[in-house]
Order: sequence, then structure tokens, then C-alpha cells
Amino acid sequence: MEFPVKTGNPAKIETACLVIPVFKEAELLPTAARLDDASEKLIGQLLERGDFDAKLGNVQLIPFAPGLGTERLLLVGLGERDKCQEAGFRKALDAALGALAGLPVDDCVMAFTEVPLAERDVAWKARMVAEATHRTLYRFDEFKSEKAPTPRLERVTLLVSEDGDAAAAGEGARIGDAVGEGIDYTRTLGNLPANVCTPRYLADQAEALGQASGGALEVEILDEEALEALGANTLLSVGRGSAEPSRLIVMKYQGAEDPDEAPHVLIGKGITFDTGGISLKPGEAMDEMKFDMCGAASVFGTVKATLAIRPSINLVAIVAAAENMPDGRATKPGDIIKTLKGLSVEVLNTDAEGRLVLCDALTYAERFEPASVVDIATLTGAAIIALGHHASGLLSNDDDLALDLLEAGETAWDRAWHLPLWDEYQEQLDSNFADLANIGGRPAGTITAACFLSRFADTFPWAHLDIAGTAWASGKQKGASGRPVGLLTQYLLDREADASVETEAS
Ligand code: BES
Ligand code: MN
Ligand code: ZN
Repeated sequence: MEFPVKTGNPAKIETACLVIPVFKEAELLPTAARLDDASEKLIGQLLERGDFDAKLGNVQLIPFAPGLGTERLLLVGLGERDKCQEAGFRKALDAALGALAGLPVDDCVMAFTEVPLAERDVAWKARMVAEATHRTLYRFDEFKSEKAPTPRLERVTLLVSEDGDAAAAGEGARIGDAVGEGIDYTRTLGNLPANVCTPRYLADQAEALGQASGGALEVEILDEEALEALGANTLLSVGRGSAEPSRLIVMKYQGAEDPDEAPHVLIGKGITFDTGGISLKPGEAMDEMKFDMCGAASVFGTVKATLAIRPSINLVAIVAAAENMPDGRATKPGDIIKTLKGLSVEVLNTDAEGRLVLCDALTYAERFEPASVVDIATLTGAAIIALGHHASGLLSNDDDLALDLLEAGETAWDRAWHLPLWDEYQEQLDSNFADLANIGGRPAGTITAACFLSRFADTFPWAHLDIAGTAWASGKQKGASGRPVGLLTQYLLDREADASVETEAS
């Protein structure tokens, strides 16, 4: 997909389809007004006669546009001007691109950067156009014999009204394209069934990313033998009941000028299928537990976006991959395991397995002396009860880091919400027989899960994103969302910006 930028007279632009956003009952935006002047009020008349209702998300194709350079016009409703915010802007984009995907056009020109949005600049709007293009054109039909026709759209040109905006639009589109590709990749890894997407499959993905990076990404895979030698017993305990061997996947990207600059570490929960183990889950919707590696998938997607953008930061991406199955060798409730850190854990419920793979990965991260560590996990059903499907849960031992992540989520429109990690909750993890238990009872399940992780994150600034409610959709639209690749990539880009400010100051 290409996202070039253009300025100039919209009436003269030659394209298969010119896409024009329109507010309900408000003055036309500049591009629409210029087209109107050149076409005997084509748009104005349609609105006046009530032939097009500019309700948010409505679209209207005008198949001929006499007097204009474009072959077609697509009007897109933005709803009421004073109610148009980020969510509405994105909804309008999705509607426009959804319509374009069904048309026999391979290129279009979009005039969306001129839509007024408080506190959002041209670069942001261009980024959203690129992300929306990827989002709406995404298909996952690898396993269908009959595939829906693939959209022909190949080029989305951003029309900007002023020459000075062109560079910003281009840079925004570059970021949006990279993030969009990362999201597509994350969605595909998430959507793949667990009989394909195994821990070894994820390891192969890392190797493939390394191969394709031309030396920019160094990859190391720890197999079960290496994990045994290391002492990552808790990670290994989760995969004991599975025929699929576990893996710890490590990917290193060095973008900072100083190779010794402290890296930012991302850690993804990669449970490629979660049956619950001996604490077996009920059967209903258990298929959705193939999505229990979406944290890992988001780490892969963010690595992919990072390799496209090449920010000057150092990044270490870690994926803890295992399959949680019941079996004669499986871990049993009451088993006590010694973690890589040395603490003993009483596994009271084998379905609380995410924290068991993550705790050893957190300890492994210590060796990189990280500037920050963020883990991403579909960790608790309780996160869905607390926050539903719109916000990822955020917990942290460092308020500055938490703020950075909240801010990145706002910028990327991939938002998180901060939950408390107070000491008072920690005692829910007390065990009669070991240093700690792996469950903390029903109250505040998302918080006690984070409390468990916090015991292994005491040597660096750390945050945890519980994406159980945001990583995929159920029901008719069942499928992975690609979240929180937008948030994570923005977080890394913001760290690059921070570093350059520091260098200038010194
Ligand atoms: N992967 C699940 C969490 C989950 C469940 C995410 C449903 C999305 C939808 C996790 O491994 C799990 O089973 N957590 C348990 C923890 C409990 C045993 C303390 C849960 O949330 O029920
Ligand atoms: Mn589980
Ligand atoms: Zn799980």
C-alpha cells in the first residue's frame, strides 16, 4: 500500500475516486467548497435536497463528476461539527475505506487532513488514514476454500490544503503505514488456530523477522533444554502437559547510537492455547483461548513496526511461549515450583498460567539492565469485567512510566486505564506452603495478577498491560484486533523523542 501526499486544486486532481468528508448542517470544508465552485454546486445541491444525509458514517458514491478531474466522488458523513472527535473521525474513515474496498478502483485521493479536530495535527490525521486503510482492507481467509474478492485499492493519496502541511502528512502516513502493517501481522498471528500457531511457530516467526531485517534484529531462541539449564522452571511448568515444547523468544533491536544505551523491554504472554490445564476451563467459547498469545502477537507486531520506522532506541522483545494442556505430566493444583528468581510458587490454579510464564521472563529481562519493562498479556477475565472492551488495564510500579503509557495510548487512540497496585492487595497472594500463591481469590483479580508479576519486577521501572478485553472481539465479528500495537509503537517513538531532547539539553 502506498500513501503519497498531494497539494493543489482539488477540481483538477485526476484519480479514480476523490473522497470528501462532509459535516451535517455546517459549512463545507475547503476542498468540498472548491469542488462545489467548479461543478455547479454538485455537493451543495445534494445536501440541500436531502439526497445525502451527512450523518456520521454515511457514505454516498457519485459515479460521475462532470467538470472535475476525478472519475468519481465519495461523500463521507462526519455528523455534527461540534460533536466530531477522534472516535467519530476514525468511524468516518472506516466507512469511507469500507466503501472503497468494494469499488473497482485501485487509487483514491482523500481530503481528511483538513477535518478540524481539537489538539490533533495533520500528521495525526494522516496516520489515522493509513491505519484505517490497513484496518479495513485486512482479510483473514487463509483457510477458506472460497475467498472473497480482494480489494483492488493500492494507493491512498493524502490531499493537503497547504504546501507546508505536506511533510507532516507524509511523516504521519509513514508511521501509520508501519503501525498498520504491525497491526495486520498481530491480527494474523492471533487469528491463526492453535494447531498452526504453536510456541515453535512463534519462534519461527522471530527467526523470519530476523532474516528479513538485514541484520537489524538479532534473534535468540531458548528451547526447553536451555530453559531447564537456566532454571526457568515456572515457565516450563505451564507447558509440561503439552506435546508442544515451550520456548523463550528474544529479539534485540539496536537503533540507538550508543549500543550500550539501556534498552526498553517488551514482554508478551504467548500461551498459544489455554485449556486451563488440570484446572480445566468450561467448554463454552474455549476456542477463543487460541487468542491467549495476543500479548506475544502484539510484541511481534510492534517489532515489525519498529523495523519499518527504525527509531533510534534500543529495544529487547521477549515472548514467553507455551501451550497450557491437561495431561499425566501436567502441573497439578498444589504443586510448588521454584521460579527463575528463586522464589517458590504454589500453583493453586493451573488456569492462572500467564503469570507463571511471565514471571520467569521478567527475571530474564533483568540481565538487560532495562530503562523500562512493559509486559502485555491476556491475563485475566476480570479485566473484561472491570473495563469491558475499550480500555486495556494498566498497572505499574512507576507512576512516570504509567503516565508515559497512558499518553501513548491517547496519542495512538489505543487507550489504557490505570488501576491501583497498592501494597494492601499483596497479602491476597499469601501461601501456607510457598513464598507466594499464583491466585489471589475473586476480589480484584486483575490487580492481584499484577501483584504477582510485581514481585518479579522489583529492579526496574515496570508496567503491565492486561489486554484480555481489547485483544480480540467475540461473536459474529470474532477476530484479533491488533491492539495494543498502536500504543506500544507510540510509546517507543516517544522515548526516542525524549532521548533527543536530553541530548540537545546536554
Ligand atoms: N487467559 C486467561 C484469561 C482470559 C480469560 C482472557 C477469558 C480472556 C478471556 C487466563 O489465563 C486465565 O485463565 N485467568 C484466570 C485467572 C484465575 C484462575 C485466577 C481467569 O481470569 O479466570
Ligand atoms: Mn488460564
Ligand atoms: Zn491464559
